[in-house]
Parts: sequence; structure tokens; C-alpha cells
Amino acid sequence: MKVSIIGAGAVGATLAQRVLESGLADTVLLDILKNIAAGKALDLLDAGPIVGHERSIIGTGDYSRIASSDIVVITAGLPRKPGMTREELIAKNAGIVRDVSKNIKQYAPSAIVIVVTNPLDAMTYLTLKETGFSREKVFGMAGLLDGSRFIALIADELKVPRAKVETMILGSHGDTMVPLLSRTRVSGKPVEKLLSKERLDAIIKRTRDRGAEIVGLLGTGSAYYSPSAGAFKMIEAIAKGTGETLVVSSYLDGEYGLKGICIGVPCKLGRNGIEKIIELKLTEEEKEAFYKSAQAIKGSIELL
Ligand SMILES: NC(=O)c1ccc[n+]([C@@H]2O[C@H](COP(=O)([O-])OP(=O)(O)OC[C@H]3O[C@@H](n4cnc5c(N)ncnc54)[C@H](O)[C@@H]3O)[C@@H](O)[C@H]2O)c1
Repeated sequence: MKVSIIGAGAVGATLAQRVLESGLADTVLLDILKNIAAGKALDLLDAGPIVGHERSIIGTGDYSRIASSDIVVITAGLPRKPGMTREELIAKNAGIVRDVSKNIKQYAPSAIVIVVTNPLDAMTYLTLKETGFSREKVFGMAGLLDGSRFIALIADELKVPRAKVETMILGSHGDTMVPLLSRTRVSGKPVEKLLSKERLDAIIKRTRDRGAEIVGLLGTGSAYYSPSAGAFKMIEAIAKGTGETLVVSSYLDGEYGLKGICIGVPCKLGRNGIEKIIELKLTEEEKEAFYKSAQAIKGSIELL
């Protein structure tokens, strides 16, 4: 298995470490700043004997090195600064993602592409259009991360193990994300029976703002441990063909009554990418929030 990661910044390099040190795949780390990519790759390689894996990693600025990748992950692009929304990144990151997509199409035409660059849903749409790959092979990482943030906060509030909490967050990776309360359970019990509306609303707000909270604390850059964990989980599902259902940003062609956008929905992932888009029955309130989120994504796509 070969995984190439475009962008050797905070998310890309941390993801490279996860992929390499899990022993899952040989890894290519590519960046426009080729020496940074090369330096980080050497550093990761040198940890190999200590960690105990036999995988290879190269750092480069040369796209011919991504040839025959099974999976390519796009993390190239600017992260948010304090006070910025993800949507404000669109002008700069669209140019970068166009360039990256063109190179993936040329050098790794049979790869599955996972998009991480923000604004996530619009960048996933752009990658799909620019590569011309099928929708089963191009999708974005976000819902998994938003759901994980929600779970961490609920578990912390109720002092229960995180493994006892299940939930899903659909919609956009932005202010209009849609936590599915009808599918949020703690040890099988509906969360609304365990937390007051006031506490639950506060947790949802903190989940929504979690990225900004981290950006504010870091001062420079945005979250990368949890985003790289999300991307790694998707790579693992594909590489091992687990058939797991994860929330990813996928192009819809009639599912959920929507067409022509990428948005977070549950998808069964396997060796060929998206094997099935799962259409959940949503409550009226969730449906309304989901369509509002879709409108927000449409607005971003129109800016491309
Ligand atoms: N989907 C999510 O949930 C999620 C979570 C966190 C971050 N992100 C996004 O991921 C992206 C990367 O974040 P980061 O923290 O790693 O940023 P970073 O600044 O640390 O790294 C970005 C890297 O991209 C490189 N780059 C820029 N233009 C390039 C090009 N044309 N070709 C190749 N490489 C290029 C830069 O040199 C830099 O090394 C940002 O857009 C950020 O908003 C998304």
C-alpha cells in the first residue's frame, strides 16, 4: 500500500507519522516547500528503528514520486488565523487545490483522494471536478472529526468512557454542522434524557466552535492531532477494507434529495472508496438543519 500526502505542514506531517508508524503503508510527503518535506521525512525515517517498522518515507516536491499511490490525501493550503471562518480561506486554497488536483490526475490517476483542506466541502467538490475522478474515489474528512469532538465533550460532561457515547454529525464542516440528537446515545440511552437542554446546547455550541477555540489558543495554525486522526481512520478503513460506516463529505446525486454538492453524510468505506452512501431517516428538525447546511455549502461552491 502506498499513501501520498500533499502538504507537509501540521496536518500532513502528523498524518505521515500516523500512517508510517502504524506500518500500514509506504508514504510520500510532498510540499511546495520541498526541503521542509524532505527534512520531515528524514526525521520520520530516523524514528523507524526505535518505533519498529520497516516502511519507507520520502519527502519531495516532485509529483512524479506519487505515481502508483493507492491513496492521496490533500492537506495543502492555508489554515485559519484567529477570528477567521473556514470560508474565508476559499480564494487562496481553491488555487492550491486546483494545482494539486491537476497533478494527482496526471501522476496518480487511479488513486483514491481524501481531501482535508478547508473550506472542506467546497474543496472536496473542487477536487472531484478538477480530477474528473468518480465520486466513489474523492471525498472529504470532517464529519468524523466533528463527531469525535462532540463525543469527547459529552463523555467529559457525563464522566463516562468515550466508547459508551455514539453520535453522528452530518452537513457542512462549518457553523451549520448538524449533530443528530436522535442518534446520540450514551450506553444506549438517548442523550436528551441524560442532559438538560441548556447543557446540551452549550456542548453543541462548543463542538461547533471547537476548531476556533483551538485556533485561538494556538495563535498560529489550527488543530492537527485530531484532524490527522480522522484522515488516518479513513485510510485504515480503505486499506483494510473494513466496510465501516464513517461520516465523510461526499458528492450527492439525488441522495437526501440533493444534487451537485459535497456534504457530510454516512458512507460505507471499503477498498474502492465509498461503497455506499447511507440515507438515514432524519427528524423534521434535523432535515431542516441539513438543508440549511446544504445551502451554505452551495454558497461556497458558487464562489469557486
Ligand atoms: N477538514 C478538517 O477537519 C481540517 C482540520 C484541520 C485543518 N484543516 C485544513 O487543512 C489545511 C492544512 O492545515 P495545516 O495545519 O497542516 O496547515 P500548514 O500551514 O501547517 O500546512 C500547509 C502546507 O501546505 C503547503 N502548501 C501550500 N501550497 C501548496 C501547494 N500548492 N502544493 C503543495 N503544498 C502546498 C504549505 O507549504 C504547508 O507546508 C488547512 O486548509 C486547514 O484549514 C482541515
